[in-house]
Amino acid sequence: MTSFPVPTMPAPPVAVVGLGQLGGSLAAALAAGGREVSGWDVDPEAREAAAARGVTITRELAGIVVLAVPLSAMNTALEGLTIDPDATITDLGSVKRPVVASLEAAFGGRFVGGHPMCGTERSGHAATDLTLFAGARWALCLEPGTELPRWLRVAEVALAVGAEVVPVTAAEHDDAVAAISHVPHLLAAALAAAAADSGPLALALAAGSFRDGTRVIGSDPVFVTAMVEGNAGPTAEALARVQAELDRPWPELIAVGHAVATRQSARRAVRVPLERAALLAVGRAGGAVTSRLAAFVEGWVPETT
Ligand SMILES: NC(=O)c1ccc[n+]([C@@H]2O[C@H](COP(=O)([O-])OP(=O)(O)OC[C@H]3O[C@@H](n4cnc5c(N)ncnc54)[C@H](O)[C@@H]3O)[C@@H](O)[C@H]2O)c1
Repeated sequence: MTSFPVPTMPAPPVAVVGLGQLGGSLAAALAAGGREVSGWDVDPEAREAAAARGVTITRELAGIVVLAVPLSAMNTALEGLTIDPDATITDLGSVKRPVVASLEAAFGGRFVGGHPMCGTERSGHAATDLTLFAGARWALCLEPGTELPRWLRVAEVALAVGAEVVPVTAAEHDDAVAAISHVPHLLAAALAAAAADSGPLALALAAGSFRDGTRVIGSDPVFVTAMVEGNAGPTAEALARVQAELDRPWPELIAVGHAVATRQSARRAVRVPLERAALLAVGRAGGAVTSRLAAFVEGWVPETT
């Protein structure tokens, strides 16, 4: 079970910009947990729905400011809003290199890039789910210039809604999610298109394998396009690796894929000092941080055999 952080100072308020599926869920989950939460959205319906869940609607933001807007709005969403000069800024965007580059240029070490690995093909405030982050991995960028105390405060927000924090760099994140998220979106689109080309009988017989393999392409095409185009280089490289795998003899390919999918790995508990290299090593090993204590974090890494 996830243990919750021992606060070393009062938890700062959280302000969420973009109260749709991800931002609305985060704001509602934090408010339900007793945290002071404010927020803003350009859509009045999203503002109303969040207010009904305990979020104070305001354009004056302080504490930890979370950008939960579409990737295309990341650079402009704070325009017209008042941000406390000591606020920590973070985001939930699915691609990290371009977001970190532009927001670090604006906010320096006060910006901490993030990406919770959860969400569904639904979007908007109607898709709000208080349990969305429970058990999810939440990638949190520790760039050379990131201020570690601010990284820890954002990590505590993720831990407070039940996520596990994976320390990463933006580049490592984008390479990894190309393989496990962005390529699957393209493959789902290709599967759906190829099945349609096979004719109405194929679609009429389509059942579980087809449904599971194509689920993600039900997402908003604008969202998927922004994601894969925002991470075009790593996605093209990961797609080339999939194409190379498809060239293997089929029995060999099936055996290798099955072995990966059914691999069992035990976990080893770790205590990690509050230091960039040590934290990043947890993420690189495939592990995660599960709680914050005064002088270190606790987490786990996969057991190596
Ligand atoms: N949907 C997923 O599965 C998923 C998963 C992880 C991360 N993300 C990332 O989270 C972010 C939000 O995604 P989502 O699925 O919650 O989208 P969403 O469409 O459900 O919500 C986005 C919200 O932002 C609001 N918005 C748009 N422009 C704005 C602006 N300029 N100022 C204030 N509000 C604005 C919209 O009105 C909407 O309520 C994206 O950056 C996305 O990459 C999405």
